Amino acid sequence: MDKFVVNGGRRLCGEVTVSGAKNAAVAILPAVLLADSPCIIENVPDISDVNAILYALRELGAEVTQLERTTFRIDPTGVNSFVVSKEMAQGMRASSYFLGALLGRLRRAKVAPPGGCDIGLRPIDQHIKGFEALGAKVTIDSGMVVAKAEKLGGCSVYLDVVSVGATVNIMIAAARARGMTVIENAAREPHIVDLANFLNSMGADIMGAGTSVIKIRGVERLSGTSYSIIPDQIEAGTYMVAAAATQGDVVINNVIPKHLESNAAKLREAGAKIEEGDEYVRVTMDRRPGKCNVKTMPHPGFPTDMQPQFATLLAIANGTSIVTEGVWDSRFRYAEQLTFMGADIQVDGKSAIITGVERLKGAPVKANDLRAGAAMIIAGLVAEGETEITDIEYIDRGYEQVVEKLTAVGADIKRVSDDEYGYSLKAN
Ligand code: EPZ
Repeated sequence: MDKFVVNGGRRLCGEVTVSGAKNAAVAILPAVLLADSPCIIENVPDISDVNAILYALRELGAEVTQLERTTFRIDPTGVNSFVVSKEMAQGMRASSYFLGALLGRLRRAKVAPPGGCDIGLRPIDQHIKGFEALGAKVTIDSGMVVAKAEKLGGCSVYLDVVSVGATVNIMIAAARARGMTVIENAAREPHIVDLANFLNSMGADIMGAGTSVIKIRGVERLSGTSYSIIPDQIEAGTYMVAAAATQGDVVINNVIPKHLESNAAKLREAGAKIEEGDEYVRVTMDRRPGKCNVKTMPHPGFPTDMQPQFATLLAIANGTSIVTEGVWDSRFRYAEQLTFMGADIQVDGKSAIITGVERLKGAPVKANDLRAGAAMIIAGLVAEGETEITDIEYIDRGYEQVVEKLTAVGADIKRVSDDEYGYSLKAN
């Protein structure tokens, strides 16, 4: 098992380039199944969650060819299997998107239930509600979710909770249904808009993505297209926080600044300077961060996927801050790890009270999930001494070349392999 070893105390300075968005890629790639000819998808991040989707596409019978490092040609014409097994799903949350995609294409899907990061209960009742409204029958058979439909017809679905996954799945299945589907109380995240743009570029008729009412007029056929995935707002946000926490000066390239507004607003409140260009943001910080309160909410609120990283910044802030989680039931499991490094965090239900300390001290910690892992890296970067982070396979799910990117801006971070002779350095 690999680990990260971080020697903290260095300011991050320089430039870093953000990869394609994980949460857009894991929706767009399964949606390629709806096309009746090959698609070219660019800016695909090289991360394990995406590789798991590409693997599942191949297993289903799609022809997947890597044209360049981040460009793939996917020909779905040969797909006739409707089963995504547990092995194929490999614990990824986004396996559920194969339900919408296979239902849209073959009117049939049998998919292992979604896994993914353990950040609280992760139900799919709203996805199922949408499929049923479209005319599918959904059952559970030997632990697999089975959806079948004679035909899919337009419908009206009101989501009881604002769910990214349910919005994605219903949009994908409805794109090939007969008639108009309306999703009310839909999620508004940038990756929802990206998926709608992708589907529209295949010939779909989707309006309102990015608002809470999305209208999808089903079409007979969708054809292959070329499409470039948006930059990853959470990866960008993570580097923004890392820059501020280390009192650094970092230009983060290949971003859409509008997607980073809530993060930028909170960083400014904590004392950072943020300069925005067309496709970059520059974060500079010349002092210890100040306290501020954060509450996570669906987009355009402060993203839950930035909560652990931001809480880490507040762990070294001057004063006491309150962080409230408004999306997931439990997303504070990382707090205990931060306390091993000297942080003062009290978790009470959905809130954490964080009293900033002058400095954290390096310690052995683990990545409880993807964003908790990112938080451990930031903690390691600001801590005195050495921090060893285990369970980094979580981090590999969503951060491409994190060691290279951080090293380029001056961090001292290494990926280390455990072997029978002790530690050995491994090229990342
Ligand atoms: C997506 O998860 C993201 N994953 C998550 O990012 C992100 O944390 C989350 O949206 C919220 O922004 C992907 O896009 C692959 P939800 P998703 O459905 O779709 C409840 C990361 O770190 N809910 O919007 O699974 C649910 O319990 C990851 O990159 C229901 O009650 O999240 C939660 O409280 C982790 N019933 C809330 O809604 C449902 O049927 C939001 O969940 C579905 C969800």
